[in-house]
Parts: sequence; C-alpha cells; structure tokens
Amino acid sequence: MSTTDFPAWAQSVAERVEQALSRFLPPATTRPTRLHEAMRYAALGGGKRVRPMLAFGAGNITGADPARLEVVAASVELIHAYSLVHDDLPCMDDDTLRRGRPTCHVAFDEATALLVGDALQSLAFELLAEHRLADDPTTQLAMVRTLAAASGSRGMAGGQAIDLAAVGQALALPELERMHLHKTGALIRASVALGARCGNNADAPTLERLDRYAQCVGLAFQVVDDILDESGTAASLGKTAGKDREAGKPTYTSLLGLGEARTLAGRLLADAHAALAVFDERAAPLRALADFIVRRDR
Ligand code: IPE
Ligand code: IPE
Ligand code: MG
Ligand code: MG
Ligand code: MG
Repeated sequence: MSTTDFPAWAQSVAERVEQALSRFLPPATTRPTRLHEAMRYAALGGGKRVRPMLAFGAGNITGADPARLEVVAASVELIHAYSLVHDDLPCMDDDTLRRGRPTCHVAFDEATALLVGDALQSLAFELLAEHRLADDPTTQLAMVRTLAAASGSRGMAGGQAIDLAAVGQALALPELERMHLHKTGALIRASVALGARCGNNADAPTLERLDRYAQCVGLAFQVVDDILDESGTAASLGKTAGKDREAGKPTYTSLLGLGEARTLAGRLLADAHAALAVFDERAAPLRALADFIVRRDR
C-alpha cells in the first residue's frame, strides 16, 4: 500500500464501522430514549476509529472475513467509546470537549453518562456472543476473554486507576510505561488480536509477531497522545489541550520533555515495523497505520 492508498483504506474502514455501529446500537426512538440517544451520541459520528483499523489491518494478514471483522471492530470501538465517556467525567479528567463536541455528561447529564459507559460495554460483549467470529467455538470464547481482560482491572480500567492515583506524582519511567500499557495499550493489543483471530491463518508465530507490533503501537499511541496534549490545540484535537499539565498528570512529556518523547515514539515506530518485517504486502495497512498513529496531529 502506498502512502496515497492509506487515506482511502482508512476512510473505508471508518465508514464501514460507522454503519455497523449505527445498526448495532439501539435506535434513539427505542425506550429508554434518552439513554439510547446518549449512547449514539458517544459512539457515532466522530473519532479516528484507530482500533477498528487495527482489527481490519490484522485481519488482512490472517485472511479474515470482513463481515467478522466488522463485529470485532464495533466491539472494540464500543469499549473505547465507553472508556472516553467515563474518562471525561468530573470524577476523572473532568473534560467538557470530546471529538469536537461537548462531552457526554455535559450534553446529557452525569448519571446518563455513567449508564452510557455501562451499556456500551455490555453491548460490546453482546456482539461478541451473538455473531460467529471463528470457525471453532473455543477460539471465539478465547476472543471474548481477551476483550474482557483487556478492558478490566488488569487492562484499561486498571490503567485508569494507576492514572488517577499518579496525579501530582513524578513517576519513574517504568511506572509510567506500565500505566500507558494498561490504560491504552491493552485495548490496542486486543484490537489486533481479535482482528487476527477472525482469520484462519492465525498461527502462533503470526499472532506473536502481531502482538509485538501491537505492544509497540499501543505504547506509541499514548506517548503521542501525551505529546499532543502538550503541543496541540483544542481546534486540531477536538478535545481540550494542556489538560495533563494543568491536572498535574505524569506524562511522557512531563518526564522526558517534548523532544525525547518524540524520539521515543520514533523508536517504537521502528520496532513496530520490525515486528512486521516477515510479512508481505498484506501487512501494508498495519504498516501505514503505525506511521499514521505516530505522525498524526489529532
Ligand atoms: C483517546 O483515544 C484516548 C486515548 C486512549 C489516548 P483516541 O485518540 O483514539 O480518540 P478518538 O477515538 O480518535 O476520539
Ligand atoms: C485516556 O487517556 C485513556 C482511556 C480513555 C482509557 P487520556 O485521559 O490521556 O485520554 P484523553 O487525552 O482524555 O483523550
Ligand atoms: Mg484520562
Ligand atoms: Mg482524559
Ligand atoms: Mg490524553
């Protein structure tokens, strides 16, 4: 895939997942209408859709059926959307702007935002249970477990707990890495693993290489998020900039400075490419996606 093909591929995945999410989410006219309206507000019409793209990119390598990938892509995006709604709550990061719009609890109310997160998470698992995603039921069960572990206290939710406990503290680099690998890396790893396992060519060495790629990209993603919080603007990011510094959060930029944080992101990108070295052209979307994740400005 050339660098000119990537935008078209990314757009096609984003459109496909948008349509799938719209179908899977209950209509806003179904009772309780306010909750369903808020769920659709939080999950539709915004976001870069990076996790769905990771699932589709991994599935491209293992020969996965796009109809299966669409389901896992929607599932991981629902978990992500839920994590953003809760992350923005006053008891967490207390943010008012997300994806260029008022955050869910601002547009609706706090109790609704809490329930939106709960319900988006449940819907993600309902989808994984409802649709055939692997030929072998044991594989499909392992996929459900992968997403559950990545979302829970040993994954994203655990990372968020480390994040909140670290406010005002100067974490050492290994602790900061641990926090980022949990709060952001875990769901990115799961996105790649689930996408790969939708295909029939997911042998152990392939899964292992893809997981190495996902770990590098997962950490790089949050390093770049930290950089953008420091160097971006609300207009470009669609969320308030400078929040980490204001809240006293330890980040890669607070610990290393912008320059070294950028160097680290570049090193992780090189490691991500190295993990894919044995693959042919089928890895082109994942290669281009890693470049996008590290070089993005939003
Ligand atoms: C933001 O994620 C939160 C993090 C985990 C760093 P994204 O940057 O993927 O947010 P959207 O989905 O594009 O809005
Ligand atoms: C959020 O990290 C990670 C999750 C939502 C799990 P941040 O708090 O840095 O994300 P943004 O910057 O608000 O998007
Ligand atoms: Mg946060
Ligand atoms: Mg936040
Ligand atoms: Mg951030």
